[in-house]
Amino acid sequence: MLGIVHKLVSVLVFGTPTALQTTSGDIYGGKTLAGITNFTVVPGIFIQDDPSFNSSGYDLLQDSFGLIDKSPNRWKNLEAHVTQLNKEADAHTTYKLIYIARHGEGFHNLAQSIYGTPAWDCRWSLLTTDGNITWGPDALLDSTGISQAEAVNRAWKEQIKDGVPLPQTLYSSPLRRSASTLNITWHDILLNRGHVPRIKENFRESIGLHTCDQRSNISVIRKTYPGWQIDPSFPFHDPLWDPTYQETDTLIGRRVRQELENLFAEDPSTFLSITCHSGTISGFFLAIGHRMIGVQTGGFVPVLVKATNCPTATMQPISGGQSATAPACTADSTSL
Ligand SMILES: *[C@@H]1O[C@H](CO)[C@@H](O)[C@H](O)[C@H]1NC(C)=O
Ligand SMILES: *[C@@H]1O[C@H](CO)[C@@H](O)[C@H](O)[C@H]1NC(C)=O
Ligand SMILES: *[C@@H]1O[C@H](CO)[C@@H](O)[C@H](O)[C@H]1NC(C)=O
Ligand SMILES: *[C@@H]1O[C@H](CO)[C@@H](O)[C@H](O)[C@H]1NC(C)=O
Ligand SMILES: *[C@@H]1O[C@H](CO)[C@@H](O)[C@H](O)[C@H]1NC(C)=O
Repeated sequence: MLGIVHKLVSVLVFGTPTALQTTSGDIYGGKTLAGITNFTVVPGIFIQDDPSFNSSGYDLLQDSFGLIDKSPNRWKNLEAHVTQLNKEADAHTTYKLIYIARHGEGFHNLAQSIYGTPAWDCRWSLLTTDGNITWGPDALLDSTGISQAEAVNRAWKEQIKDGVPLPQTLYSSPLRRSASTLNITWHDILLNRGHVPRIKENFRESIGLHTCDQRSNISVIRKTYPGWQIDPSFPFHDPLWDPTYQETDTLIGRRVRQELENLFAEDPSTFLSITCHSGTISGFFLAIGHRMIGVQTGGFVPVLVKATNCPTATMQPISGGQSATAPACTADSTSL
């Protein structure tokens, strides 16, 4: 079935410009590609991709999202470049520019900053509240997190003046701190024009142990984000969260790579955004071979990704990394 879809789309991509504007292709020459065997980062576009770049203290919201080209035409140049890459790509190759975003600060981040990471990991993250702050299940944005998302919204509006290519599809983790960040970021830019965000289970945070990462049931999600698209296969209750075990970084990397393969097989969009979590973003970097960089709450990183399903392509598998249990508390971490 996917093979047939792939063939149809390939025909459209090499067809006339009118054919490109059908729902199967996209206006930037993007296409769907099933059975991806290799993802790589296209270097030389964003400064944060450069292995020698020191991102400590760097705020890409204030620097055209890290785009190296600083000319007034920078976004039009980028759009033309990506379109050309897609139009010249063979039937086995496609390019997508992915804006991967981290949610704004949530009550769990606040609690972690109050108690410190050792005490958070061994004790507080396993509970839902300290009697004052509640972070589980499914932590909400706190007021700092809302302000951070509003700042991201303003930063997009600044770049829109210079023609930044907007995401054609908006993806979200099912956790409320991410979905609400997506909403605040895009409500008066894209959601008001009929864009419907797609919620994907596999873009959620590291699964297990921390109650902040246990998701709400479907009826809460539907009520909070009316009309948003939820996969029909999504179980009503969270079937994945476990109070004893947590996914490791490598397990998240594998899960995110799998979801990216699904996304590339289904979505011909060239520009898209994913609003998710620090663990998901590290998994994304692992999945596509991007260097690891820290992304602050309310931050995001654009990455130009090349994908191929060429039969001879291979990619380093992500292996190892069994699920982990919570660290034991030491005298130090329980002192609070
Ligand atoms: C990156 O910059 C920070 C502060 O500007 C500095 O403390 C740190 O040593 C730098 N790291 C490297 C690897 O140069
Ligand atoms: C309760 O939490 C808030 C942050 O939400 C903090 O400002 C306040 O100091 C806390 N109160 C107590 C009694 O710990
Ligand atoms: C879904 O979750 C909400 C909030 O926890 C709860 O009030 C509601 O009863 C749940 N629905 C079902 C059918 O379990
Ligand atoms: C989205 O954000 C806007 C602006 O903050 C708010 O008015 C609206 O209620 C939010 N909608 C959802 C579904 O969260
Ligand atoms: C695929 O990915 C790896 C990184 O795992 C890279 O070194 C390799 O050159 C890529 N390309 C192909 C066509 O396999």
